[in-house]
Amino acid sequence: MNNSFRFDESYLEEVQLKDGTAILLRALRPSDRQALIDGFQRLSDRSVYLRFFSPKHQLSDEDLSFLKELDGSNSYGIVALRQLADGREGEGVGVARLVRVISEPVIAEPAVTVSDEVQGYGLGRILCDRLAEAALERGILWFRCYVLSENQRVLDMLRSEFSETHLCSQGEIVVAEISLLSKNDVCVGESNQPSRG
Ligand SMILES: CC(C)(COP(=O)(O)OP(=O)(O)OC[C@H]1O[C@@H](n2cnc3c(N)ncnc32)[C@H](O)[C@@H]1OP(=O)(O)O)[C@@H](O)C(=O)NCCC(=O)NCCS
Repeated sequence: MNNSFRFDESYLEEVQLKDGTAILLRALRPSDRQALIDGFQRLSDRSVYLRFFSPKHQLSDEDLSFLKELDGSNSYGIVALRQLADGREGEGVGVARLVRVISEPVIAEPAVTVSDEVQGYGLGRILCDRLAEAALERGILWFRCYVLSENQRVLDMLRSEFSETHLCSQGEIVVAEISLLSKNDVCVGESNQPSRG
């Protein structure tokens, strides 16, 4: 991996959500497997459906296989954890990851999930922003997102975050092609003290 990347395996950032919740963002690691399984178990049926497009009771090995493929170049992820009063990592409350489309290397497919209990306080937007920055560092210029057409929250978020967004409906799914260079130049999420681990 390029060692001048901000978003590498040592990425670590503290942010505050709109309700004051202190969150640690750091690079996702293969050892986060159990935290992802636990986080999935706490998701509402509705959030699972919006993320996976069908009901699902547990994450399969295939769902988690990307963890083994986190090479930092073609695949990179960020995990969001509650920050405990003593500064240590608490429960996982969000995850964002990208996988480059190998046949079209300037495109990546992202996925973002935020725990129900912290939704609506800005974490989704922060993760989306940081993931776009991580992608740009890797020469990825576009996100190709598959979103359920009923998921207006995500579609609205993408439209407000990026000024160049092409939407194409394929039945119940909307394929959104987003130019990362069109990311609106707004500061998303208040960093307490940007730092590196
Ligand atoms: C989509 C998701 C990642 C957004 O995370 P979040 O932390 O709730 O997002 P934010 O708080 O940053 O809000 C982003 C935008 O969503 C909208 N939004 C947030 N909460 C909302 C609510 N309760 N009702 C309606 N819209 C809402 C707002 O437009 C908000 O923009 P704003 O910053 O201008 O207010 C999260 O809701 C989630 O994980 N959902 C289930 C899985 C999913 O849909 N994943 C994406 C599918 S590919």
